[in-house]
Amino acid sequence: MILVTGGTGLVGSHLLYKLVNGGHQVRAIYRTKEKLEKVKHIFSYHTKNQGLLFSNIEWILADITDTPSLEIAFKDITEVYHCAADLSFGPQNYEASKETNVIGTANIVNFCLSGEVEKLCYVSSIATLGEYQTNAITEETPWNPEKNKNNIYAITKYNAEMEVWRGVQEGLDVVIVKPGVIIGPGFWNSNTGDLFTKIANGFCYYTSGSVGIVDVNDVAEAMILLMNADVKNDSFIIVSENISYKTLITSISNCLNTKATPRAVQKWMLIIFFYFEKIKYFFMKGNPVLSIANIDSAFKNLNYSNAKIKKTIDFNFLPLSESIKQISECYLSDLK
Ligand SMILES: NC(=O)c1ccc[n+]([C@@H]2O[C@H](COP(=O)([O-])OP(=O)(O)OC[C@H]3O[C@@H](n4cnc5c(N)ncnc54)[C@H](OP(=O)(O)O)[C@@H]3O)[C@@H](O)[C@H]2O)c1
Repeated sequence: MILVTGGTGLVGSHLLYKLVNGGHQVRAIYRTKEKLEKVKHIFSYHTKNQGLLFSNIEWILADITDTPSLEIAFKDITEVYHCAADLSFGPQNYEASKETNVIGTANIVNFCLSGEVEKLCYVSSIATLGEYQTNAITEETPWNPEKNKNNIYAITKYNAEMEVWRGVQEGLDVVIVKPGVIIGPGFWNSNTGDLFTKIANGFCYYTSGSVGIVDVNDVAEAMILLMNADVKNDSFIIVSENISYKTLITSISNCLNTKATPRAVQKWMLIIFFYFEKIKYFFMKGNPVLSIANIDSAFKNLNYSNAKIKKTIDFNFLPLSESIKQISECYLSDLK
């Protein structure tokens, strides 16, 4: 039986659909009941049979930081897809992120090692790679802790990956995927779905950088293919294309038929906004939406190579123009 963590999130929910649709026996963990309806809605983008397929999942209430609940979740499990993570960037969330991403992943690895698990697929991120602005970034580009001092997401995901490599040393077979920025339908108020909502509501600003982007269906498909391939103890960048934020914002805006004109934002403007928010949240409850780390990366021109996954399993990515079109159609139909 397959275990999926993070099944109520963007990647996990689309992955769950592909797994149950492929006839696999699947168990998934969840933390709150309300999120389960969301997963059913994600299934409805793929099929009219969402209720039936959804009912094939065995849901278990568990938290990856709570080992007694994982003990129950891991019973009779032979394959694990570990997608659960804390995607916070703000330094104020460091302890909570470390708990989920590092300790939680160590727990998953330990349960895999002590049970009957044959292979683990771990979802890492391109944030755990170094950043060349001249050459293409590959799976071999070393992460630089000095340059990532303030990026708590990169720090905790990198340390989580170290737990997975520790599992390999102790005899576990793993495959690690490193997606770029993932876009997909359904989570319109969080994650990258929030960008579609903001653009639909008139936000149309871009920074001068570029980044590797990928459709959520490609991430899920690549994970399943890598788990079933004769590949182990290796990592793969999962990026469809490297595009500028200007192209990204303009394409989404066009597909959502907004009339807004895309405008460039300068770095100094975001830095002023960041300090303004810092002062505001010193006196009020809440966390700033920006961090210095994500302001910095918004102005970098990064180019990630997807040659390895293409060569290893002959993988074809959905063109981003098609992906943005499909996601925008889901957004507009959810508005009705
Ligand atoms: N989104 C991106 O652009 C992107 C890019 C590269 C890599 N990734 C990686 O892809 C993976 C999936 O991300 P996503 O985009 O699907 O994120 P997401 O939509 O925020 O989903 C995160 C999932 O993790 C679960 N989770 C968080 N803390 C947990 C805990 N302590 N115990 C159990 N479950 C917990 C959440 O459960 P609740 O629903 O209960 O909160 C949710 O199901 C992550 O490893 C992330 O680092 C994401």
